[in-house]
Amino acid sequence: MPNSERSASRRFDHDYGVTTHAILFLTDLDPEHVGDAGAHATHYEAVPVGDFRALISELPMEAIVTSTFVDVGAGMGRAVLLAAEYPFKQVTGIELSPGLYEVARENLERADRSRRTCRDVRLVRGDARSWSYPPGNLVVFLYNPFDGEAMRATLGSILHRRNPGTTWLLYHTPVERDIIESDPNWQLTTSSRSGLMYRHD
Ligand SMILES: C[S@@+](CC[C@H](N)C(=O)[O-])C[C@H]1O[C@@H](n2cnc3c(N)ncnc32)[C@H](O)[C@@H]1O
Repeated sequence: MPNSERSASRRFDHDYGVTTHAILFLTDLDPEHVGDAGAHATHYEAVPVGDFRALISELPMEAIVTSTFVDVGAGMGRAVLLAAEYPFKQVTGIELSPGLYEVARENLERADRSRRTCRDVRLVRGDARSWSYPPGNLVVFLYNPFDGEAMRATLGSILHRRNPGTTWLLYHTPVERDIIESDPNWQLTTSSRSGLMYRHD
């Protein structure tokens, strides 16, 4: 991680009064509680703040105000805290690791609420591959949470949700982009240094 990014990451934690700056491997943290999903997971690292904001800025405002935001692999909750600054209908983070989920919960409790525009902010402890995604329009954020096999299962659960609307996918560090692009119904709308954005109607 470049020095400028490291100091921006520490500044985020200082300004919000939280702890999100860390690099952790689930196999070191709580391997006995993550089941077979642990074998498909990457490590924990918080999203660079500037990259997250740049990705969100590519979304039409209409998509933000009509959608539920879901952070797939919420870690310590940085992307959830940032997403809550925008007028999403709801912001939810789903996290596999009980240890990281606990830290995210404490962070949400401690963080300055005056920064929030979204009033419905939730955290779920679970496996994103088989979770029941909320109906309607969704903005799904992925910061390289897992391998291709887990990506395929997660996309299946997202697209087979009840009463689906439009799905936007924001993908930072898109190492499994080929899996998304093998389905022509995912339309690549933006590609930048901060990641990729897709739309599925
Ligand atoms: C690179 S971190 C991203 C953290 C957070 N989204 C952020 O941007 O600050 C990836 C996270 O995905 C989680 N993860 C991996 N596989 C998962 C799964 N099947 N279900 C839920 N979370 C998962 C990991 O535990 C880790 O916290």
